[in-house]
Amino acid sequence: MKSPRILVTGAAGFVGSHTVDQLLSRGCRVMGVDDLSTGRLINLRNATNSPRFRFVRADITGPSTLKDLCESFRPDAIIHLAGLVSVVRAQEEPGLNYRLNVHSTQLVAEAARSHGVKRIVFASSAAVYGDHPDLPLAESIFPQPISLYGTAKRASEELLQGYATAYGMETVCLRYFNIFGPRQDPRSPYSGVISIFAEKYSAGEPVTVFGDGGQTRDFISVFDVARANAIAATRPVATPTICNICTGQPRRLLSILDVFRSTHPEAPEPNFAEPRAGEIRHSAGNPERALERLGFRAEVDFAAGLRAFIEETGPATRDSAHAELVAIG
Ligand code: UD1
Repeated sequence: MKSPRILVTGAAGFVGSHTVDQLLSRGCRVMGVDDLSTGRLINLRNATNSPRFRFVRADITGPSTLKDLCESFRPDAIIHLAGLVSVVRAQEEPGLNYRLNVHSTQLVAEAARSHGVKRIVFASSAAVYGDHPDLPLAESIFPQPISLYGTAKRASEELLQGYATAYGMETVCLRYFNIFGPRQDPRSPYSGVISIFAEKYSAGEPVTVFGDGGQTRDFISVFDVARANAIAATRPVATPTICNICTGQPRRLLSILDVFRSTHPEAPEPNFAEPRAGEIRHSAGNPERALERLGFRAEVDFAAGLRAFIEETGPATRDSAHAELVAIG
């Protein structure tokens, strides 16, 4: 059987690089594109050993970048993960948010349409729900984003649904919840909480808990998210569709803190600070539709996934990663 050909935007990023690895492990041919503004080549160190992988460093919002890539690679599907990931930066720079989180989707859709690419998988977010009280959040809820980031993700979903209706294209929008795992950049104050905690605990520095720690989130492993992306790009799916990618299990921040404390008994006590402004207290998604439509269910056990991640974030791993980065230049 012919190997599916998949173009991945944002391929050198946190989710992108795991998605590339997952696709390659399934026998796909993969072209990854990334401008390396936030993505890192080191994330693709496994992928670059594969003869079925090609990497192109380029800005996908360039006038003909995506069309040229579709012309040369002839993908069966595009997984569009490139975007501005910081909710706060999106709020501060609405023009940049528009260019990276809406206009880029239009360029992907148009390149796909003009080159007969059948399917687009899009990285949407739980942020489209805003601060909705009905938990777990189901896709039938009317989206009311409270941030420009969520608004842009919603606009991209609508745009893709429009392309599906107008041109019969297959579009799958995946609303990711809180993703954790290796390769997430921990160094921004707006990074995922688990990556920040892992970095601070391994450095012996105190973490800060915003609020009383009683808030809950639906944390999903990046390995599960990568699998969902691969399924959405390669399996028969009734489209257009929008699916939550979540576990359905809310986890309290304090229980996560307990795991870090038990693995780092000598670490300093955490600081507690005021809750972040505008923040939601509880979040959890309903995973049923992803199971029905994609046959996807999160499989990584949270406690085991968290412990594995904490072990990997130890100082030895970080040092060797740094050495490899220096070697790549
Ligand atoms: C996450 C996503 C965001 C998405 C939203 C949708 C990340 C990085 N962000 O935001 O893109 O819009 O889900 O629901 O995945 N916290 C601390 N200390 C820290 C950092 C965070 O206590 O040092 C707390 C936060 O205040 C929050 C919780 O941990 O209560 C989770 O924070 P974070 O990982 O930033 O994700 P969300 O805010 O849920």
